[in-house]
Formats: sequence, structure tokens, C-alpha cells
Amino acid sequence: EKSGYDHFMLKEIFQQDESIYEAMRGRINAAEGWVTVGGMQDHYNRIANAERFIIVACGTSWHAGMIAEYIFEELARIPVEVEYASEFRYRNPIIGPKDVVIALSQSGETADTLSALELAKEKGALIYGIVNNVGSSIARFTDCGSYIHAGPEIGVASTKAFTSQLVVLTLMALDLAHKRGTITKSHFQKLISEFELIPQKVKSVLSQAENIKSIASEIKSASNALYLGRGYNFPIALEGALKLKEISYIHAEGYPAAEMKHGPIALIDMYMPVIVIATNKNAYEKIFSNVQEVKARKGIVIAIVSEGDTEIKKIADFTIEIPHTEDVFSPLLSSIPLQLLAYYIAVMRGCNVDQPRNLAKSVTVE
Ligand code: F6R
Repeated sequence: EKSGYDHFMLKEIFQQDESIYEAMRGRINAAEGWVTVGGMQDHYNRIANAERFIIVACGTSWHAGMIAEYIFEELARIPVEVEYASEFRYRNPIIGPKDVVIALSQSGETADTLSALELAKEKGALIYGIVNNVGSSIARFTDCGSYIHAGPEIGVASTKAFTSQLVVLTLMALDLAHKRGTITKSHFQKLISEFELIPQKVKSVLSQAENIKSIASEIKSASNALYLGRGYNFPIALEGALKLKEISYIHAEGYPAAEMKHGPIALIDMYMPVIVIATNKNAYEKIFSNVQEVKARKGIVIAIVSEGDTEIKKIADFTIEIPHTEDVFSPLLSSIPLQLLAYYIAVMRGCNVDQPRNLAKSVTVE
């Protein structure tokens, strides 16, 4: 049931403080100083000593995988490749018993992802599943894995499953980093203490829904939109653009902010909304100058910034402030305003947000 919300998608967006907590529950305890991901235990040595992680997924789940690449490499120093499941299986990939293949799937029924796993298993890789739907085909096929415990996701556009996937991937990276000794004890402790605060911070992001709705009404008639982010926020730009496309039917593209000058900058004029995810503590100056470049061409800048920001706020047309956090956790906060922005724009344009045209919740054909 929609529990008083107009759509399942809105309900699922607003559930994220709880669903994120559910993904963490029993897997982290900052007071006692530990993180443990149960699904890794039976094959721990093989996972911790893997030569490579290969993440396979489609759509929004693939975006979660892109962020995981940054997180695993930064914290656990394990090389990661992220593949579209459909591309991976058709190109005779180099893969063997020292690789761990991680499948990300909300439904657990995505045909391309399942076929990629069949190929990887044949070649001897260990298969790890991060799935929402309990007992689904992918969950049954894997050697080991973790459920994300997001609860049923009814809206076709994935929202809460995405943030819960990120939580499990981050916990895996923290667990591995701690045990492999790739981060110091004090850094580990600092990170896990901050991670436990995320559900509360998500609540604070959600409390800005009215501001986001009013921004939506300003840009709802656009025909195109550009999303820009750097580092951890680059995949969030891709995901923000996908959300807008699939439910509002506005053409949107996500780009790494610095790539803008290599092409997309030609598109910018007074009719182009540019959504900049600018919460990065690293590279703040760079993203500030990207915003200046957009403003110099009269683009409409909607900036997602950290609380208390002054510089970008001065030049952006609209800003959405989110609580400070460590850069590695920022996607969990910065993705939420983009979900809400897409939702409100789609509703204002009269679209069927829970069941967008041409889309199905599980894609069981290849
Ligand atoms: C986008 C969306 C799709 C799915 C994709 C993979 O909002 O929902 O892009 O993310 O079809 O689905 P799962 O995660 O079920 O394998």
C-alpha cells in the first residue's frame, strides 16, 4: 500500500532513512568498532585475496557498481571493473578463478545479469550476489552474497534499492579494508562512526522536499538537462539523468564535470538546466569553476552543495543543501534530491511515475 503517499515511488524515496538502516543493521557497530558482512564469511580468503572484482549489472544497479569501483579501490585497494552485463557476456571476457564477480540486482531476475553470471561461473570465478528479492533466480545462482533488505520496491524507477546496494557495497569495502590493513585503525573508526549517522542525515535531506518541489516547477518545461559530478558524484550524475529520462521523458545526460568542456558545453544556453552535484570536499575549486563555466553561457544551475556552502551558492540559480559527510558516503545523500527532483517534474508533467511507458520492473528478456 501507498501509506498516504500519492505514488509508490514517493513512498519508497521517503522510506530511505529506514531502508538504509535495514541494510546496515547487524553489520556495523561503531561503539564496538566492527563491520562484518555475513555473506563474505564462507569464502572470506578468496574474496579478500581476489586479484580483481568484476561488478556486473544493468541500469541503476550498474550505477551503484560504478560508485563501488571508487569505494573498493579507495578503501580496500582491490582493482575493480564494472561491466554492463549485456556487454560483458558477448565479448569473450578474460576471467578466471582468481576473480570475484559481484552481481548487483534489485529484482534478481534480470536476464542479462543472470547470463553474465553463468558465463563467469563456467570460467571458475566466485560469484557474489547483492540482491533485494529473496529467493530470486540470481540469489539462487550465486555462490554467496548479501541481501540488501530494502523491502518490496514497487515503483518501476529504482530508488531505495539503489541506496541500499550502496550501503552493502560500502560495508564490504570497509570490512575488507579493515582486515586487509589498507586503512589505519583510526581512519576505519572515524569512517564507521560517520556511517552510522547516515540514516539520520538522509532524514534531513528528505525534509527539503518542498524546496526541491519548487525548483522542479522552475525547470519542468525543459526539453533537455545536463547532470554533472566529479569523483563519487559522477555516477550520481548518471543516475540523476536516468531517473529524469525514465519517468519525465525529458532527455538528460550525465557527465563527469570536467568532461563538459570536451563537448557538451556546446549545448549550454539559457534554456539548459544543469544540475551540478558539488558536495565534494576534494576538488571543490574545480567544481566551482565548472559552475562558473555554465553560468558564463547562461545555463540554469541547480547545485547540490554541502550545508554552509557560500561560494557556489552565490553563483548558482538554485541550491539544495545536504549535510556534511565523508566523500565516500556522499552518494547516499546526494542521490536523494535527484530522485525527488525527477519525481516532482514527472508529476508536474502529468506522467505515470510508477509505471513509465515502455518499462517493466524486471527485464527478463536479453
Ligand atoms: C532504473 C531501473 C532499471 C534497473 C535495471 C536493473 O530505475 O530500475 O535501470 O535498475 O533494469 O534491474 P535489477 O536491479 O532488478 O537487475
